[in-house]
Amino acid sequence: MNPAADLDIARVRAAFPALADGVAYFDGPGGSQVPAVVGRAIADTISAGIANRGSVTAAERRADVAVVDARRAMADLLGCDAGGVVFGRSMTQLTYDLARTLALQWGPGDEVVVTRLDHDADIRPWVQAADRAGANVRWADFDKDTGELPADAVTSLLSQRTRLVAVTAASNLLGTRPDVRVIADAAHAAGALMHVDGVHLTPHAPVDVPALGADFYTCSPYKFLGPHHGVLVADPRLLETLHPDKLLPQTDNVPERFELGTLPYELLAGTTATVEFIADLAPSGDSGVDRRSRVLAAMVAIERHEERLFARLLGGLSGLDGVTLHGRPAHGTPTALFSVRGRSPDDVFERLAERGVNAPSGSFYAIEAARWMGLGDEGAVRAGLAPYTNDDDVDRLLDGVAGITG
Ligand SMILES: Cc1ncc(COP(=O)(O)O)c(C=O)c1O
Repeated sequence: MNPAADLDIARVRAAFPALADGVAYFDGPGGSQVPAVVGRAIADTISAGIANRGSVTAAERRADVAVVDARRAMADLLGCDAGGVVFGRSMTQLTYDLARTLALQWGPGDEVVVTRLDHDADIRPWVQAADRAGANVRWADFDKDTGELPADAVTSLLSQRTRLVAVTAASNLLGTRPDVRVIADAAHAAGALMHVDGVHLTPHAPVDVPALGADFYTCSPYKFLGPHHGVLVADPRLLETLHPDKLLPQTDNVPERFELGTLPYELLAGTTATVEFIADLAPSGDSGVDRRSRVLAAMVAIERHEERLFARLLGGLSGLDGVTLHGRPAHGTPTALFSVRGRSPDDVFERLAERGVNAPSGSFYAIEAARWMGLGDEGAVRAGLAPYTNDDDVDRLLDGVAGITG
């Protein structure tokens, strides 16, 4: 591995047909653009003879290979066991299903801990499942000014009655990366399970789920250059102990037990191609090594590329009169949230869009966080970086915002 090598940005950009439209895409935290090779994998799979998973016909085997390959690919991306990779429609759907299943074991007096920093998909499923089970919800608050969620804001809420702790690995609103490992260790010491929302972290950093201490980790390939579906990972031995509602003829095997109905084979083929694409971004000296190592090297290169551009973006925005940057955590993803004096967030979004700069406005479903910070449901403007972002994109965003403030 050559950790010092940079991302070849021209090569990266050439792989994305969408970039030919000349738009500067800063809406990656909402959903990233997709390389041609991923689109082709999806089209090839849906166009070839395809059936339900099985081993008799070539069409059945194709569907089976799509699932098995995608589990292996996700295992390489996240450093987890392929036998514990569960696919679903979205992170939201998987978290609702998991919450309902875990809550079968909760009762009055039990507690779950959620944070105000999280996307609502890592709050509401737990709150609603707890309410139904008669369990209590304890809320961890974050620092409104810095956007930080110190570990003890969560760990101080733990008790012997805590059954589950749900914490984001990175805030999709502010980029904040809480110390998940410290929280997980404390949760485990209290006898609780730890759910980590990895949707916003996975596109930006190397991920090792066991090292994070997550019992459950969720993410969504459409945030990391892939297709629209969700992924939940856990240790297969933990999944064996859980019994979700399922159809009678459906296998009770893990992880299939957690997958309701027929899987989107073509999207899974797209996700495998996405992980391959990411692995191929590893500096060229890494070409001979296994895919997990190449993924890690590529994610280090992506992280470095995004950090450099983000420093420019933040420096530029903070130098503009009338621009307020919200919550700048010390450890975070390259995601900036800002407001422009005298302009509504929607107005800024629209004015930038007129210039071919896509940086949307809102709370981005991190509604508790936006309200807690006093931004209300209107939120602010979010600019997030992606592997395909370049210096020209950053210049265009800064020029666009300067044009609005001026
Ligand atoms: C941090 C975070 N968690 C969860 C979600 C929900 O993901 P999905 O659309 O796969 O349900 C999102 C989507 O924006 C997100 O950013």
